[in-house]
Amino acid sequence: MFSESRILSPELKQRVVSAEAAAALIPSGATVGMSGFTGAGYPKAVPQALVEQIKRSHEAGERFRINVWTGASTAPELDGKLAEVDGINMRLPFQSDPTCRKQINDGYMHYTDIHLSEVSQYAWSGFLGKLDIAVIEVTAILEDGRLVPSSSVGNNKTWIEQADKVILEVNDQQPIGLLGMHDIYYGTALPPNRKPIMLTQPDDRIGETTLHCPLDKIVAVVETSALDRNSAFSPPDEVSNCIAGHILEFFEHEIKMGRLPQDLLPIQSGVGNIANAVLEGLNNSDHKNLTAFTEVIQDGMLKMLKSGTLRVASATAFSLSPDALDELKNNLDFYRDKIILRQQDISNHPELARRMGLIAMNGIIEADIYGNINSTHIMGSRMMNGIGGSGDFARNGYLSIFLTPSSAKGGAISSIVPMVSHVDHTEHDVKVIVTEQGLADLRGLSPRQRALEIINNCAHPDFKDRLLDYFDRACASGRGMQTPHLLDEALSWHQNYEKTGRM
Ligand code: COA
Repeated sequence: MFSESRILSPELKQRVVSAEAAAALIPSGATVGMSGFTGAGYPKAVPQALVEQIKRSHEAGERFRINVWTGASTAPELDGKLAEVDGINMRLPFQSDPTCRKQINDGYMHYTDIHLSEVSQYAWSGFLGKLDIAVIEVTAILEDGRLVPSSSVGNNKTWIEQADKVILEVNDQQPIGLLGMHDIYYGTALPPNRKPIMLTQPDDRIGETTLHCPLDKIVAVVETSALDRNSAFSPPDEVSNCIAGHILEFFEHEIKMGRLPQDLLPIQSGVGNIANAVLEGLNNSDHKNLTAFTEVIQDGMLKMLKSGTLRVASATAFSLSPDALDELKNNLDFYRDKIILRQQDISNHPELARRMGLIAMNGIIEADIYGNINSTHIMGSRMMNGIGGSGDFARNGYLSIFLTPSSAKGGAISSIVPMVSHVDHTEHDVKVIVTEQGLADLRGLSPRQRALEIINNCAHPDFKDRLLDYFDRACASGRGMQTPHLLDEALSWHQNYEKTGRM
């Protein structure tokens, strides 16, 4: 069907233009909704042509900046390059690019960090202002104009609906075999017209396999041929393996206690090496027929699907190393009925996370002795990446598990501190904290009980005594015993680090 061209619609075939011509349709000041989620399915050509356009404007002394909305993080050639030419005024809802990060932290770029499930609701409701243009990568265009989504869905449905104009990039490097993997749900509505989302298991399909866009909105189509840019995962290190080991032991304990079924509950797993180590651990265990209802399918999940440890994985994007991408491409028929890609307002939906009882596992920057979590800010003020979907899953999952090495920067920083320097997840949303030292099960504990559980089980030995000393003195201070703190010392560990390079 696609042997000659990925664009089967005769009408849209006539709108094929160069990336430069498409980028010229984006004026300075525009708000642009781009596809892309965790390095997958981002537009590859128009943003780069836009970079050149911005450079020319800046050389001519004209300021040219746009607002960029995406699904989540994209790639250096989108976020990084646009930031390098000072082309982004405001960015949302998630990024992980070093150049963007620097611009955000230097105050050149505004950054609105939003729960990923909520972004489309913000856009539909008009909280974010007007979306001028959507630039969306697709795998192919069908004869009647329906769009075969790419390696991520993210907010594409919303951007297409909300934007005045749409530019499509049709990427022939995205496997055509992706057709059939997506589940695009057109039943969402704003209150008071909402209906229950009838999805009760990760493998339920409630939508369509393609995206729709009124043809008259599509102002340009650009043909591209480029792979998603994702790097290889390094093999899990000792710390990640220890963290994974504690989690697997905890699952066994919960099964014995009758609090988890033998095939667990649907897994949500953040990206990164620790998350990958947990998935590797599960893959090497006796578990079979597990399910995942998560944001991103990374290498570990593909392996689990291959081995039968995982029966099905629902997500909004792939995030695969080059080797894993080859594995997917070469075996798409095997994976097609085991993987479902949904828009991010469904993959991360609080209603669904609560209904299915997800086991949510996400990485953090630091936790405090009472279980409050900082996932985003270094020393209280500098943005790392963003909250991503962690809040969607932590509040609403059955088990919210947060993972971190017990120390950072070669042991100079304790990941367990008296008081977090920024709060993303409050103590009320945190059920389990795990470091390589051990696991703190906080369910049902009072703050003072939690403090002892966290310090004794999770803190690095270099910092444990000081944390116990802080806690003892806070309890003895007479300032109040519900959540004892010494206000003049609570953030002194961070101050120490900034002054001396060590907490
Ligand atoms: N203080 C200062 N820096 C710290 C730190 C701390 N307490 N803890 C970690 N860091 C630094 C590390 O040193 C490292 O820095 P580097 O890049 O300069 O080497 C960086 O933060 C990343 O830490 P790392 O240990 O490699 O962990 P990670 O890759 O697993 O990332 C988060 C951890 C928190 C940044 C990441 O999980 C994240 O962005 N989480 C929020 C979003 C989320 O949860 N997404 C998934 C939901 S679906």
